[in-house]
Amino acid sequence: MSEQPLDMPAIRAAARLLEQGELVALPTETVYGLGADAESPPAVARIYAAKGRPSNHPVIVHLAPGADIGYWAVDIPAEARKLIDAFWPGPLTLILKRAPHIPDAVSGGQDSVGLRCPSHPVAQALLQEFKNGQGGVAAPSANRFGHVSPTTAQHVRDEFGSGPGSPVACVLEGGQSDVGIESTILDLSRMATHGPVLLRPGHISAAQIAGVIGVQPCTPDAAAPRASGTLEAHYAPSTPVALVTVEELAGTMERLTGAGKRVALIRRSFPEAVALAQIAMPQPPDGYAHDLYAALRAMDAAGADVILVESLPQNDAWQGVNDRLRRAAHDSQGILARLLAGRRPV
Ligand code: TXA
Ligand code: MG
Repeated sequence: MSEQPLDMPAIRAAARLLEQGELVALPTETVYGLGADAESPPAVARIYAAKGRPSNHPVIVHLAPGADIGYWAVDIPAEARKLIDAFWPGPLTLILKRAPHIPDAVSGGQDSVGLRCPSHPVAQALLQEFKNGQGGVAAPSANRFGHVSPTTAQHVRDEFGSGPGSPVACVLEGGQSDVGIESTILDLSRMATHGPVLLRPGHISAAQIAGVIGVQPCTPDAAAPRASGTLEAHYAPSTPVALVTVEELAGTMERLTGAGKRVALIRRSFPEAVALAQIAMPQPPDGYAHDLYAALRAMDAAGADVILVESLPQNDAWQGVNDRLRRAAHDSQGILARLLAGRRPV
């Protein structure tokens, strides 16, 4: 995260662009967001156009610290207040019932709204400047639909370009995102009937949430609000990604190399190997999450036929990272089978 003094002229200029309906990319502690005025349907429509994202997918509304959530949501359960006291500002998004005057463009036509107060100092300063701290900035991750989320300003420029042709009017600098994976999303919009539902795992774990509200969140049912980060194929680089256990890595690499395939490797316990490119990831889950998207982008740029990722422990601490990796590598078996059969993956 940025330890630099805040560039207030740039932040004020970005706030004015948002007020004029333009798109601004902003750093947050999770990933960079592609922001627009949440109360302007044409501005929100620009996000969907820039990302190439279906317009029935809702976006998160980012609020300044101390903002009145009663302006955005109705029927707010006591659990929401407790979680806000415990985790805001920070990487937790709450899905609540949408107030009737909030445009349904931010919720993809659903009757809910996703709210989050980010802790990154640049995001907070922007939210304070925008509409005097009374506005909401709708911001999905600043990547094209289905791609890997950006954790640096350069990643955003790589996605959308910069300068006159870019749909993004301004990219605010904020260093590398601390957390590195998207916020935990908890649905409280159907509290009375369904209880709390964990739509997307993240840095704030189900156990931490249960510690505050005294109830373990459930996994989504068929009628749960849609969340695009919950699609099977998501967070994927253009190079195919396959998850392989540490026990199977050596053999898999040998067979791939034998078939003339170029391999990029993201390893953690596995020793340094002969590969086109490789990255040794940090051991702890937080450090791993911090580096994950930059590693996927770097290995994607290596020109390999496949990115092999050493699979990780399956416990609560790794839930957020495992969720993202499982989606990036959603067809591991098929990818390996096609490569070893000598065919290009489709
Ligand atoms: O960490 C984050 O959450 C980042 C940063 C920029 O804040 N944002 C982010 O946005 O990941 P996005 O759009 O890539 O993912 C937001 C998720 C989506 O899966 C979306 O469907 C869900 O939040 N979401 C937003 N509002 C919702 C709603 N009303 N009901 C259900 N899901 C919602
Ligand atoms: Mg996203």
